[in-house]
Amino acid sequence: MKKMTSDELRESYLKFFESKGHKIIPSASLIPENDPSVLFTTAGMHPLVPYLLGQKHPAGKRLCDVQKCVRTGDIDEVGDATHLTFFEMLGNWSLGDYFKEESIGFSYEFLTKVLEIPVEKIAVTVFAGDEDCPRDTFAASVWEKMGIAKDRIFYLPKKNNWWYAGPTGPCGSDTEIFIDTGKEPCGPDCSPADDCGKWGEIWNNVFMEFNRTADGKFEPLKQKNVDTGMGLERTVCMINGLSSAYETDLFADAIAKICELSGKKYGEDEQVTRAIRIIADHIRTATFMIGDERGVVPSNVDQGYVLRRLIRRAVRFARQIDCDPSKLTDIARIYIEKYRKIYPELGVNADKIVDEIAKEEERFSKTLENGLKEIEKVLKYVQGDMLNGKTAFRLYDTYGFPIEMTVEICREKGFGVDMDGYRKAFEEHQQKSHAGAEQKFKGGLADTSEMTTYLHTATHLLLGTLKKVLGRDDIQQKGSNITPERLRFDFNFERPLTEEEKKAVEDGVNDAIRRDIPVTCEEMTVEEARRQNAVGVFGSRYGEIVKVYTIGDVDKEICGGPHAEHTGQLGEFKIVKEQSSSAGVRRIKAVIDPSKAKK
Ligand code: ALA
Repeated sequence: MKKMTSDELRESYLKFFESKGHKIIPSASLIPENDPSVLFTTAGMHPLVPYLLGQKHPAGKRLCDVQKCVRTGDIDEVGDATHLTFFEMLGNWSLGDYFKEESIGFSYEFLTKVLEIPVEKIAVTVFAGDEDCPRDTFAASVWEKMGIAKDRIFYLPKKNNWWYAGPTGPCGSDTEIFIDTGKEPCGPDCSPADDCGKWGEIWNNVFMEFNRTADGKFEPLKQKNVDTGMGLERTVCMINGLSSAYETDLFADAIAKICELSGKKYGEDEQVTRAIRIIADHIRTATFMIGDERGVVPSNVDQGYVLRRLIRRAVRFARQIDCDPSKLTDIARIYIEKYRKIYPELGVNADKIVDEIAKEEERFSKTLENGLKEIEKVLKYVQGDMLNGKTAFRLYDTYGFPIEMTVEICREKGFGVDMDGYRKAFEEHQQKSHAGAEQKFKGGLADTSEMTTYLHTATHLLLGTLKKVLGRDDIQQKGSNITPERLRFDFNFERPLTEEEKKAVEDGVNDAIRRDIPVTCEEMTVEEARRQNAVGVFGSRYGEIVKVYTIGDVDKEICGGPHAEHTGQLGEFKIVKEQSSSAGVRRIKAVIDPSKAKK
């Protein structure tokens, strides 16, 4: 295998695909533009969804890039050898151009010729087939032709070998590529489906040839696409024969700094190593989140809350290993220097990154000690093995402990947390502040967050109504932007709406407002959301928990919220503009007037 640094791997990957006719496109923002259904870009394909559905990409039909990604589903797992919250995805795409044979050929050539991986070290999986899509004997035959032994080709079901862009939208079977880590097999039938560590996944080639419709059908797409993703960290780790991404050049300087600051050694003690990895991972992710071109700052909602959790968790673990938390900014500086060549936005936003991490650390460090003392105290007197919800809420409200942190600390000490009680205490608190906001509202001054919340609910009503009025189930959100003054909503439709259609859409939304329908929210797995025909474009995998907002018979969407409690709160809805946004995409600007809400 060819040993390479992360810089060399990025470069040789892009160069290879460029030589195969691909245009190099820049990484998109980590914060999905106009997509409220996911907080962060989770895969290289995410910003490309419109093009996978058929919109023309200005750079052509063959694309490649290195995309910044954040996946936060496994924050609690970070600390072991493999989990990361930020990673870079090397990706190449065919938008209705080449398909399985060429895609597998490119991957095989890159792995065996450029990375010089011996073919005996490679295993692949292909789709086993079901009622939606036949067994992929073709992909298997291409792999065999390349020289992969028959017993290294594994047929696996949808659970393993199918990639969804979202509950509706482009999807298809995939073939995944694994490298032998040299570990002992877990048994005679050991396969990449086992998580014994024998096979390390490095690349996923998705053959996107279906569109999943709102009624759960798999319709052939207009064009057959290829979407691939290769994790940079894992691949660097693998080709250099390392056992953890934390041992690669990507983390080397940051980890050396943490060791210097704490006086500890990486790899000597399990708990210390775990803490070092948590700090190294979380500060890297925080650096990218704040330094992003659409950067976020710590807060109590959405992306800002995830960022807050990461920084605060890093602070807690820094203290555990005697690393001065006020020096976490030194680690951020190391990442800025390491990555600014590739991601210039980190250089541009360097001061902001350091400043925000410093401020958040200060805010939290002030209360952390008292909060920790408080937990110790209450756990001493707790009846049974459960911390009550009110105390968990007090730790959040008074000491700034994200609930996940309280759960983690309690777990370390052998206690659980009454989550229902916590949610109840949280909601009671919110109702109190909501009542305050309504007071203000009656005085004629709409609270900004309330206004944007209602406008957000209006976009859901608008999408549901557009589908009904235009008689088209395939209409999807293509973009959304909300200011306190108005909503802006983009959707796929080929021509301008007629005056009658506009009026019918407006009437439809107003009818839903007049019916004062409750807006309900449920948490469920992606599969369940899909089964219930919830809409929403996002990249996620089996088992991920999502929020689904339902507005009666009008709309059901996977979405992060927040929303109005009932549609009557929106008062009145009015379209102010309908125009073209881009080819095949229309844009509606609309306003609401909550002062017209029936009291
Ligand atoms: N979109 C595919 C993935 O993320 C390539 O695995």
